[in-house]
Amino acid sequence: MTDISPPRPDLWSLDPGVLHLNHGSYGAVPRRTQDLLSALRTETDANPMAWFRSVAGRLATSRLELAAYLDTDPTGFALVPNASAGVTAALATIPIATGSRIVLTNHAYGAVRFAAERFARQHHAEIVVVDVPLESDDDTVVAIIAAALDGNTAALVVDQISSATAMIFPIRRLVDACSEYGIPVIVDGAHAPALIDAPAGDGADFWTGNFHKWPASPRATAGLVVAEKWRAETLPLIVSWSEYDERMPERFDMLGTYDYAPWIAAPESLRVLEEIDWPRRRTELSSMLDEGAGLVAKSLGSSVPDVVNPAPTMRLVEPPWPGERSEDAGEAFKIRVSRELKAEITLTAFDTRVFIRLSAHAYNSLADYAKLADLLPSVL
Ligand SMILES: Cc1ncc(COP(=O)(O)O)c(C=O)c1O
Repeated sequence: MTDISPPRPDLWSLDPGVLHLNHGSYGAVPRRTQDLLSALRTETDANPMAWFRSVAGRLATSRLELAAYLDTDPTGFALVPNASAGVTAALATIPIATGSRIVLTNHAYGAVRFAAERFARQHHAEIVVVDVPLESDDDTVVAIIAAALDGNTAALVVDQISSATAMIFPIRRLVDACSEYGIPVIVDGAHAPALIDAPAGDGADFWTGNFHKWPASPRATAGLVVAEKWRAETLPLIVSWSEYDERMPERFDMLGTYDYAPWIAAPESLRVLEEIDWPRRRTELSSMLDEGAGLVAKSLGSSVPDVVNPAPTMRLVEPPWPGERSEDAGEAFKIRVSRELKAEITLTAFDTRVFIRLSAHAYNSLADYAKLADLLPSVL
């Protein structure tokens, strides 16, 4: 039997008195990257003029490293603050004809759906939400989404890894289905960096993903990968001095007076992941989480839903949910778990179901899930 890599909470500064089981929402930055970030901020305030003169060169270096990590062409890779910004910039670029349809699925992240709704309102277009059952296999996912596409579809906006259901979508096959009608595909890959190799390589028109989630880079660091045909037209959301800069991706670097330190420090976290042999660890975390989620489900007399292609480091547990199913009730429950059990988890809602979504990163061990399994029944 091969040895399992030991957990590395020592590399993070997370409070050891808390069970951290929700990396998926806001990430967590390793100490080394925090140190670099803090050094960069010290440097900024030692001489702001010198710092801002140096930013362009440092961003170019950072962009190259981040693009190489995604295995994508650096000339189509722009820095954006977060996946929300990436999706919004993509929606702002594509033509949306009056009466056309923007297609999403019922797995779409709420804020991404809001972005699509804003553009639909502005262009007098329609939003179509396709219901994809949780337990669907890839063939079913493709068949259901493809059936909703037609010559009047302005875009397909689709998750690569969904938030509420932690499910991997077959992006390449969906891109192929859209190409029949020439429909632009916007991929929300918020969770994809570090969980899917070469996540932007499936031929979508736009792909966006967060470095501040699984690669553990400082918030707010994300990438937007733009297919060649859209590069000339795709603009940053903040209008600043790069407005007439024809260079892509450089024009995304200049957002006026802005905190560029996270983008410059971001590659440090990639080096931390490399040192802990992340690809192997990700596989180990996936097995550990299968076991851990099983323990939590068993303690609640419940089950782990049968997601056909789950994200490697996230699993759902379906708790017996007493009482009201509302956002307020969910928030109140998370706060209770945080205060009374000293555990951080998240809840997600899908269809009429409520799930506990558990995450695993390199600082977690099976004992974390066993402890949650012991504690949770007291609050449910
Ligand atoms: C699937 C998905 N899309 C988009 C986002 C938005 O990410 P951000 O808040 O970094 O813009 C998230 C955040 O959790 C997400 O899970």
